[in-house]
Amino acid sequence: MTRPLRLSEQSLRTTDSPITELIYTAMRDRSLISLAAGLVDEETLPTAAVAQAVAAVLADPSLGRAALQYGTTAGLGSLRLALAQRLAGDFTQQPTAAAPLADALAARCIITSGSQQLLYLVSEALIDPGDIVITESPSYFVYHGVIESFGARVLGVPMDHEGMSTTALAELLAELERAGQLHRVKLIYTVDYFQNPTGLSLSASRRVELLRLAQQYSRDGRILILEDAAYRDLRYDGSDLPSILSLPGGEEYVVYAGTFSKPCSPGLKTGYGFLPADLHEPILHLKGNHDFGSSNLSQYIVAHLLQSGAFDQHLEHLRTTYRRKRDAMLEALTETFADCPAVQWNQPAGGLYVWLEFTDGTRTGPDSPLFRAARQAGVLVVPGEFCHVTTDQDRPRHQLRLSFGVADPPRLREGVRRLGQAYAQVTKQLQTV
Ligand SMILES: Cc1ncc(COP(=O)(O)O)c(C=O)c1O
Repeated sequence: MTRPLRLSEQSLRTTDSPITELIYTAMRDRSLISLAAGLVDEETLPTAAVAQAVAAVLADPSLGRAALQYGTTAGLGSLRLALAQRLAGDFTQQPTAAAPLADALAARCIITSGSQQLLYLVSEALIDPGDIVITESPSYFVYHGVIESFGARVLGVPMDHEGMSTTALAELLAELERAGQLHRVKLIYTVDYFQNPTGLSLSASRRVELLRLAQQYSRDGRILILEDAAYRDLRYDGSDLPSILSLPGGEEYVVYAGTFSKPCSPGLKTGYGFLPADLHEPILHLKGNHDFGSSNLSQYIVAHLLQSGAFDQHLEHLRTTYRRKRDAMLEALTETFADCPAVQWNQPAGGLYVWLEFTDGTRTGPDSPLFRAARQAGVLVVPGEFCHVTTDQDRPRHQLRLSFGVADPPRLREGVRRLGQAYAQVTKQLQTV
């Protein structure tokens, strides 16, 4: 007889991401058009540049041996410095000031196995069961799962075209204070550039206000802002916004998370974080327990791509490709839903996502007629309710996340056309009910 397995409480609180099944479905059946997965476009993956980087690293025997050996827990020094030099531009445009700043930033930088590992480590370092993490709603649902696995509550703050509503955030913090719960708030999580799933960015003035609120409500202990900049490099229009980290006082309050998965290659699985000085050592200790350092070879490759200029060249190519794909999706939406004022969507200036809303209340959940009709028509989409906080009973159920990451422009157009067909079928059915 098999004896019962005694899983830890954390394991029991941990579930699979709701979109894993959608991703596998698309992999199994190539005739399906996936507007669901937030994966990068395979055609853009920089095979030649990475081949050159690998060859260059391994051609030098001492460099090659170092790359194939274990590295340090914090990560490759030259890579941390290169990242710090890039981020220093947020703080100052003056080269004389940038150099010492970059050194200081590099000392607080850690390289991780994707930014997902950084999100996990920060949560592990800060969260106890019963704590609270505040996020945008909707937001990056995979991270909601991490928070919940630590036994914390996720509280959502609504968004508008400027990103997280700081008015609603202020109200929530005041309410938590009145309820004697402020001490439980450890983190405010924001994906502040071209958010997954909405494509929205936090405006410059809201960045200032968000930091001010974190400072104001840190009365019972510091409330940190976890600034997840995963999509920052994927900007197609307009100019970059400075990070919250770079605002006055930001260094004490902000954890900045970045990644090479979206702007380069998820296969390198290399992310990074800039941490408040007093969080750096606790995170290193935890990472020591996890893996005592991320893939050293990947780090040498990324460092070479940055230093040779190949990364910046690749970014230019990527921006052109994704801009074209975004435009193809937006044009197809305009054509398909021209006569449907109840279908609305945003025009993201970057990232990989378009957020669609059915103001006539059409349901989009995994068991909804629309989702099923879309699946039958051969297109996969992500139900918006997956992206809202799971404990919120009132979460909206009439939204969809569409990604222009994977499919090429003709398939994006065809995918949107099939979605339109599904919507027409469902709404016609509804009218006759
Ligand atoms: C908002 C956001 N943050 C973090 C990640 C984690 O990516 P990675 O671990 O590959 O850097 C993702 C992946 O999709 C994401 O969408």
